[in-house]
Amino acid sequence: VRMNAGTQCCMFLSIFLFISICLGEDYDLDDKTGLGRSFDGIGGLSGGGATSRLLVNYAEPYRSQILDYLFKPKFGASLQILKVEIGGDAQTTDGTEPSHMHYEDDENYFRGYEWWLMKEAKKRNPNITLIGLPWAFPGWVGNGENWPYSFPDITASYVVSWILGAKQYHNLDIDYVGIWNERSFNSKYIKLLRYTLDKSGLERVKIIASDNLWEPISSVVTADKELQDAVEILGVHYPGTNTLPEALKTGKKLWSSEDYSTFNDNVGGGCWARILNQNYVNGKMTATICWNLVSSYYGDLPFGRDGLMTAKEPWSGNYVVESPIWITAHTTQFTEPGWTYLQTVGHFTHGGSYVALTDERGNLTIITETMTHDHSVCIRPPLPSYDVTAQNVTFHLKGTFASISELQVWHSKFDFKTNKSVLFQNIKPIKDTLKQRSFSIELDVDEVYTFTTVRNGQRGSYPDPPPSAPFPKSYKDDFDVSGHPYFSEAPNFADQTGVFEYFTNQTDPGPHVSTLRQVVTQRPVTWVADADQTISVIGDYQWQDLMVSCDIYMESVHTGGVFIAVRVNKGGGVVRSTRGVFLWVYADGTYKVTNDLNGMTVLAEGLSGTRARVWYTLTLTVKGNYASADLNGYPLWKNAVLWEPRHGWAAIGTSSFELAQFDNFAIEALT
Ligand SMILES: *[C@@H]1O[C@H](CO)[C@@H](O)[C@H](O)[C@H]1NC(C)=O
Ligand SMILES: *[C@@H]1O[C@H](CO)[C@@H](O)[C@H](O)[C@H]1NC(C)=O
Ligand SMILES: *[C@@H]1O[C@H](CO)[C@@H](O)[C@H](O)[C@H]1NC(C)=O
Ligand SMILES: *[C@@H]1O[C@H](CO)[C@@H](O)[C@H](O)[C@H]1NC(C)=O
Ligand SMILES: *[C@@H]1O[C@H](CO)[C@@H](O)[C@H](O)[C@H]1NC(C)=O
Repeated sequence: VRMNAGTQCCMFLSIFLFISICLGEDYDLDDKTGLGRSFDGIGGLSGGGATSRLLVNYAEPYRSQILDYLFKPKFGASLQILKVEIGGDAQTTDGTEPSHMHYEDDENYFRGYEWWLMKEAKKRNPNITLIGLPWAFPGWVGNGENWPYSFPDITASYVVSWILGAKQYHNLDIDYVGIWNERSFNSKYIKLLRYTLDKSGLERVKIIASDNLWEPISSVVTADKELQDAVEILGVHYPGTNTLPEALKTGKKLWSSEDYSTFNDNVGGGCWARILNQNYVNGKMTATICWNLVSSYYGDLPFGRDGLMTAKEPWSGNYVVESPIWITAHTTQFTEPGWTYLQTVGHFTHGGSYVALTDERGNLTIITETMTHDHSVCIRPPLPSYDVTAQNVTFHLKGTFASISELQVWHSKFDFKTNKSVLFQNIKPIKDTLKQRSFSIELDVDEVYTFTTVRNGQRGSYPDPPPSAPFPKSYKDDFDVSGHPYFSEAPNFADQTGVFEYFTNQTDPGPHVSTLRQVVTQRPVTWVADADQTISVIGDYQWQDLMVSCDIYMESVHTGGVFIAVRVNKGGGVVRSTRGVFLWVYADGTYKVTNDLNGMTVLAEGLSGTRARVWYTLTLTVKGNYASADLNGYPLWKNAVLWEPRHGWAAIGTSSFELAQFDNFAIEALT
């Protein structure tokens, strides 16, 4: 930090007058000293995994309101980048997302909700940058190995088909594609991906590598000319605002291509404010992408509420516009990708940071943050301690900016004592002092300011959404597709291993013409340890006493097995150790009641007479410490005693990666 007039003045006064009237520190904003890097935007990440699952089932007008808070320019977060998961049929943190190619001879570009989400984002902001990244791949891509690079040409054409499908079926231009989220990269594969993109007329689609750490990708790119040409962006995750000399040496653009992942209370807002500025100030990163875009998954799954806002109650319509939305607005509403950072950005003498960006027309946007350590800790990496105190700062506008006569001012202050935080408030513009080509401001701790020539910022708002409510105690779904034209998945089911999608049997319009079908028949190239069984959870994690019933249909003659369950206590990356009360029937004519998904703890077992390709109705009732089950209305077993777990979701699933169907699902909560 340079010693400047302000510091000297302060010392002088305190020594000779024994009072500390500090006139503050001076900071120049000057485009004539040269410009910094080009700004690429702030974004949100949907997926990695299934983080937008519940959003799609919100009724209007709430669903559009949520989308407006995220994407509509000059309204809320006004996001400049949307990154989505390229579904790979496997568990990727809070659920699975369906692949466009479950099988080698299968192609379908209407599964899941990411296509829809990208279109909704584009509708609001045609300039939004789109990125796709795989976390996992269908099993056939790995040819049975848990590895996507053994046949790199197959993996490359699989990924490129997703980009081509986006254009062909949804008129979506994907701008960037990644390699394999937070896993190994492979230079040969990256070059082949570049080659396959070019060969498919997709020269404009650029590659981000490697969505992991700065190393080894930086050194490998520097050492390999062909790889240098193939890779456009170095994307790192959770960089703690820092970069490495090796990354700078590549000469590539540096992005924090996944960051935040922090509970979205005001400390989360503080984390986001600090890293949005300091990812550039400390790390020269020119884009930052938030995991996740919107917390639209059951709150009791891993990393609940780690999104820019919360929308996890489609049944009530309730959603919450959390502080990270307004922190994002401080930058996004007053910049566009393509603006340029000034060289004169940095840290304040008494803590906090400032960045300044400009466009070609002499616009200027300054963002300051003075977040204290304890009010801006992110989930990772650890944050070394530092001090921030209230301070007076003076900005001097030089170069092109000397002629600016008015700056709009937007202010946020996190107040952790009273909870009366101010978020993104438009306050009195700065005018008079600009005649002296400078302005001074007293910065308190835990504040964010934007000073800008851009006039049309807006704090968008809608009437309060309906109040929060628990999942309905009585719930039914007959999977009649006609009621759900847009999505392949039934509302509120959150797949944790396998993929459950609507199925219509074209050959026989009997009573089970429209069903929900588990369709993953081979273990995927996984991102975490998916279960060996498939499972989709639904409902309220606090449910204790419950009756679940469902019609089931095993398609697999030899290995067929299907379950319904209650008090299911886990999902996400730890799905293998899920416990609950599981009622299984098998195609070999037996049944089982187990206390866990992997079937290790058997509470009861016996003969059921069940076989494949016949519909049965299963009913499971759990009350207090007792459980009982019916098959086609007749008692199968009664009053099995169980102790743990005490509560959890309801669920359906299969005993292996196999085809099976479900129909007429119903829940009655008994307490
Ligand atoms: C899209 O970008 C162009 C060029 O920067 C700009 O003029 C236009 O206002 C932008 N549109 C929106 C909706 O942001
Ligand atoms: C800033 O950009 C606007 C258009 O968004 C333009 O009208 C104006 O002249 C620019 N320059 C300044 C200094 O405001
Ligand atoms: C900022 O300056 C004002 C006016 O000179 C003074 O009253 C105030 O104490 C200063 N604040 C700080 C934190 O130094
Ligand atoms: C502030 O809000 C948090 C979270 O809602 C709550 O835990 C805390 O008690 C509140 N503090 C005050 C002083 O109201
Ligand atoms: C579709 O219905 C026909 C006639 O009932 C049946 O034979 C066939 O197995 C069904 N197909 C599936 C996949 O359920």
